[in-house]
Amino acid sequence: MAKGRGTLSLHGVSFANASTAAPATSVPWWSTTLLEPEAEAVAQAVRDRRIAMGPVTETFEREFADRLGVAHALAVPSGSVALLMALLAHGVGPGDEVIVPNRTFIATAHAVLMAGATPVLAEVRADVPLLDLDSVAARISPHTRALLPVHLNGRAVDMEAVNALADRHGLVVIEDACQALFSRRGDRWLGTESDAGCYSLGVAKLITCGYGGVVVCHAESTRDRLIALRNHGVLDTSKPGYGSLGFNFKFSDMMAAIARVQLERAQEHGDRVTEVYRRYRAALSNWDGIQMIPVDIEAGEVPLYPEVVTANRASLRAHLADGSIQCQDMAPSLHLSPHLAAANPSPAYARSERYDESGLILPGGPSQPLANVDLVISHLQKWSHRLMGPEGAGT
Ligand SMILES: Cc1ncc(COP(=O)(O)O)c(C=O)c1O
Repeated sequence: MAKGRGTLSLHGVSFANASTAAPATSVPWWSTTLLEPEAEAVAQAVRDRRIAMGPVTETFEREFADRLGVAHALAVPSGSVALLMALLAHGVGPGDEVIVPNRTFIATAHAVLMAGATPVLAEVRADVPLLDLDSVAARISPHTRALLPVHLNGRAVDMEAVNALADRHGLVVIEDACQALFSRRGDRWLGTESDAGCYSLGVAKLITCGYGGVVVCHAESTRDRLIALRNHGVLDTSKPGYGSLGFNFKFSDMMAAIARVQLERAQEHGDRVTEVYRRYRAALSNWDGIQMIPVDIEAGEVPLYPEVVTANRASLRAHLADGSIQCQDMAPSLHLSPHLAAANPSPAYARSERYDESGLILPGGPSQPLANVDLVISHLQKWSHRLMGPEGAGT
């Protein structure tokens, strides 16, 4: 990362420079940092001429798999590619339907479309934006091939129930855990309880190397198909020939060098985003105008983003912008995209639509100074007082 003062902005994501805290009046919605150890690690990879996919990637994959207690982990270019490869490795393709939640980042559905299959959108629960299993059961058809639950913002989908439903209908289960690395329910890591789990190493994730993704699985046969898919159908590079369809979905040792250092910081990052969430939750409890969308941090869920709902989103966004505070609208429900709505002609997604109108992500991230969170809270309080009077802000 470049040296200097202030914040850097990349693709709309601002993140504080490693050596300087963000100025008090300028709060990015997301803050993460790469420090000297990451810089040294990638420099060392270059010095060692480890720039393509090789032993550093292998070491990262081993460490990642060990941390999650799974047999296999494969590093790939992004979380989106991880999802696509997991689907392809299970033979999902044209004519197949895959059930995905209507509330997720669009990558989940695009992976299904890229595999040539059809994403079928299930409604979310009333309490949290996670797959509603009654809605899933209602959408299972003779064409359904797979279920793709999403552990949105570190919240755990009930995998026992998902797997039981899948068993009854003979379906593949792939977990989208792109927002749920090292989030857990009890003693189980999210993303490790199905045929394959997919993680993202993008900038606005728990750990990052710029872009990147990881697929984890338990079965050796799945691992072999993923390896072949990642490299044009080559399972064993010592043997000539191309055994099956594949592509170039390889990782690089330079990315792995950074990712290995970030992996060591995962706990620290998880602790910080949890503390950020806890602070907002304590401050916003019992306010009329704004509520946190619950994450069960007591059960081990890691809230990557502090998400809220407010009926006055535009007003709140404008108020925070006046204080040089960034925030983000939550991603739109999938049924609002015409190319996804086509396969879902008569949607009834009232629960999802609640977030389209009122869902907002407050400033957070693994390097967000807690002083920034306090500053945001004081701005929220002023906004709330103006809107509803002191009682509305719970003070
Ligand atoms: C739920 C979810 N799925 C998939 C992805 C795709 O990951 P990537 O951006 O690494 O392709 C993301 C990324 O934001 C995500 O949030």
